[in-house]
Amino acid sequence: MNILITGANRGLGLGFVKRYLSQGYDVWACYRHEQTQLQALYSDKLHLLQWDVGSDDAPVGDLPDNIDLLINNAGIYGPSKGGQSLDEITSDGMMEVFNIDCVGALRVVQRLKSRVIAAQGIIANISSKMGSSGDNSSGGTYAYRAAKAALVIVSKSMAVDLAPDGVRVITLHPGWVQTDMTHHSGLIDVDTSVKGMTDVIAHIHDYEVGQFVAFDGQIVPY
Ligand SMILES: NC(=O)c1ccc[n+]([C@@H]2O[C@H](COP(=O)([O-])OP(=O)(O)OC[C@H]3O[C@@H](n4cnc5c(N)ncnc54)[C@H](OP(=O)(O)O)[C@@H]3O)[C@@H](O)[C@H]2O)c1
Repeated sequence: MNILITGANRGLGLGFVKRYLSQGYDVWACYRHEQTQLQALYSDKLHLLQWDVGSDDAPVGDLPDNIDLLINNAGIYGPSKGGQSLDEITSDGMMEVFNIDCVGALRVVQRLKSRVIAAQGIIANISSKMGSSGDNSSGGTYAYRAAKAALVIVSKSMAVDLAPDGVRVITLHPGWVQTDMTHHSGLIDVDTSVKGMTDVIAHIHDYEVGQFVAFDGQIVPY
């Protein structure tokens, strides 16, 4: 089984790489600049690919012909929480986060969809409960919330469009996880989040097409 993961050099992406390598799969781990922690894994099943999902440039490196699982994990939070308030958020801040957190996944799928179709594979888009309108009772965080909400919508359209080709698409919420993004202040560790999300992916046929699902299998309201 061939698995491709974006934003794989640290955090949840690196957690996915370690988990799938330990299960014997071939993993294409994409990084933007830094690959030290990936190189330290020393596996002949690991293939490194330089890919900045915020750019239209082609990835540098060899892609697998068939992709059984594509995980669109790369993402940024953007400006600090205070910098994303109604008074402080800027148009540049909004566009930067949207470009990476939403358009990034679209770029990757446009580039790889024929290879996922060839494998009748799965696409998992990593969004966030922060992108759920139903879950938003605290306001603020304009850029990150908007970009992750847009990703939910884009992911649902992908799910509908690719279902006739035999591709399943799911949107995932990792939980609040101890990574650089949360300054390691999350409620759960990377292994717990990744194990939960890989379990959801393994049971994707139990979920509706394009459903938004948390790491613990709970359905997230849009
Ligand atoms: N941690 C949480 O509690 C939480 C909750 C909900 C959703 N999420 C989502 O889960 C995903 C992973 O988050 P994380 O917590 O692991 O964050 P993280 O530790 O900050 O890691 C983010 C990863 O995305 C990569 N990335 C950022 N911009 C990129 C670009 N333009 N092209 C390619 N890669 C890029 C980073 O690469 P560099 O090293 O090059 O920056 C890094 O590998 C994100 O989509 C995030 O929004 C996280």
